[in-house]
Amino acid sequence: MLAYVTMHLVNHALGLVSLEAMEDVLWYIFRIWSKRPTQGLLYGSFLVHYGLALWALWQRRSLRLRASELLQVVLGFAIPILLAQHVVGTRIGQDYLHTDTGYYAYLLWVYFVRSPSDGYWQMAVLVVAWAHAMIGLHFWLRVRPWYARLQPAALVLAVLVPVLSLLGMIEAGRQVAALAAADPDWTRQAFAQMTLPSPETQRILEAITLRLSWFFGGAVGAVLLARFIRHVWRRRHGLVRIGYPDGRFVDVTPGTTVLEASRIAEIPHASVCGGRGRCSTCRVRVRAEVGSIDPPEPEEQRVLRRIAATPNIRLACQLRPRGNVEVTPLLPPFAAAADGRRRVDVVQGSEREIAILFADIRGFTALSEGRLPYDVVFVLNRYFAAMGRAVEAAGGRVDKFIGDGVMALFGIESGTRLGCREALAAARLMSGRLVELNSSLGAELDNPLRIGIGIHCGPVIVGEMGYGRAAAITAIGDAVNTASRLEGLTKTYDCELVVSDETVARAGLDLSGFPRYEIEIRGKREMLAVRTLERAADLPEGSVSPGLASNSPSPPRISQKPLARA
Ligand code: FES
Repeated sequence: MLAYVTMHLVNHALGLVSLEAMEDVLWYIFRIWSKRPTQGLLYGSFLVHYGLALWALWQRRSLRLRASELLQVVLGFAIPILLAQHVVGTRIGQDYLHTDTGYYAYLLWVYFVRSPSDGYWQMAVLVVAWAHAMIGLHFWLRVRPWYARLQPAALVLAVLVPVLSLLGMIEAGRQVAALAAADPDWTRQAFAQMTLPSPETQRILEAITLRLSWFFGGAVGAVLLARFIRHVWRRRHGLVRIGYPDGRFVDVTPGTTVLEASRIAEIPHASVCGGRGRCSTCRVRVRAEVGSIDPPEPEEQRVLRRIAATPNIRLACQLRPRGNVEVTPLLPPFAAAADGRRRVDVVQGSEREIAILFADIRGFTALSEGRLPYDVVFVLNRYFAAMGRAVEAAGGRVDKFIGDGVMALFGIESGTRLGCREALAAARLMSGRLVELNSSLGAELDNPLRIGIGIHCGPVIVGEMGYGRAAAITAIGDAVNTASRLEGLTKTYDCELVVSDETVARAGLDLSGFPRYEIEIRGKREMLAVRTLERAADLPEGSVSPGLASNSPSPPRISQKPLARA
């Protein structure tokens, strides 16, 4: 249906070129959509789509929806009613009443000369149909990781197509009106090859239009009435109570989803995909009496598997309790699509072995002295962008920017070994990107920027921590503190990178050619062996790229006495 509508709108837009161009392209489009298979596909798609929309309306226990969802539903049910006259006048007239009026010259004459109110109606239909399609497409795509990148271009296209289409219609309509006004004989010549409806046929077409409009309006009305009767009947047979962590609860009829219950009770609840069971942002932890909830359907199971959900985690938009339950929404109400892709164990908190990288600009205080705040922010943002991209290119995630420092985590999902290799690859990239940054900022800086990087690995607690919009996935633990201390040691050793031998060994890397030290870590009895590199860019290239590291690390070689206490 979207292909049909898009072709139709692009065809209208050709009115900006000429009426002839519109008619020529219409001829090809007509050839495509007048074949039995494509007609079957188009009408079949419409019937399936409309039937599913009625079913979804019946399934909903509440019509408290977000404005965009409500708009999509209302526009969707309005389309067949608004479009009935056009479809009956062209398709049904042509297929069953032997008329032949499917030409722009005739239709534009009707819409812009004979009956301008019909013209406004058609333009409204165009906007309504396109808006409905675009909202649906947006809901469908917004859970895809790549969509965020394409969204600005998609928005431009979504606005441009109907605007050009309307302008094309108006321009061609003005042409037709001018031609008809200039030459009273124009309509007779222009419509000579068409079979226009006789007054009797016209009456039949209008009667069919009216009946179809009543049919589509009546179908929606019947479902709404049936919902109301079901609601009254179910209320008589008892309600189920859904409790929330802050003590609030809502009594709803059995069959109401937990997400609908949240909306009825006006409890903010994330639902990026609008309750279609795709995004997982509505996920809740459930405590229920035996027999209060049914096991998840295969579709829900698939999403739950994707986020590694434990058996007590369910999607609020799919869960329809039959008895009392207590639920705890697991993501904040303003969660984004990306949050829905996070595994439950990562968000909730779990112990993992990962690699942690800290990087800091050397002598930034001196560098910022005497500069305008604007200049400092400009340089810092360029630096953060370069370092952030290096971390992401290596496969890590930037945990936070602290002052002029960066903390990044590697291996949260992929494990320590790959995480260590990614962290070293990031250090190497960061060093290289800093050189490029220094050369592009040459005029802004008295001295080139220098950084210190510390990398360590070990067990940490990973989970979503913080409050409100400041909550984010982060890591805490000794390994994090140690990585931070290694970064501080780059000043002591006057080098760019200090990396623990453990990280190097896990990465399967041979750094035996670089100085090795043993340091004390506060609160630990064992010494920690580290390697220092004057420039992180000196890390061997291939060996630190994930997937290329050697599997046989060389044994660490102690070359110096303990030097420092971290
Ligand atoms: S709202 Fe998207 S899965 Fe429930």
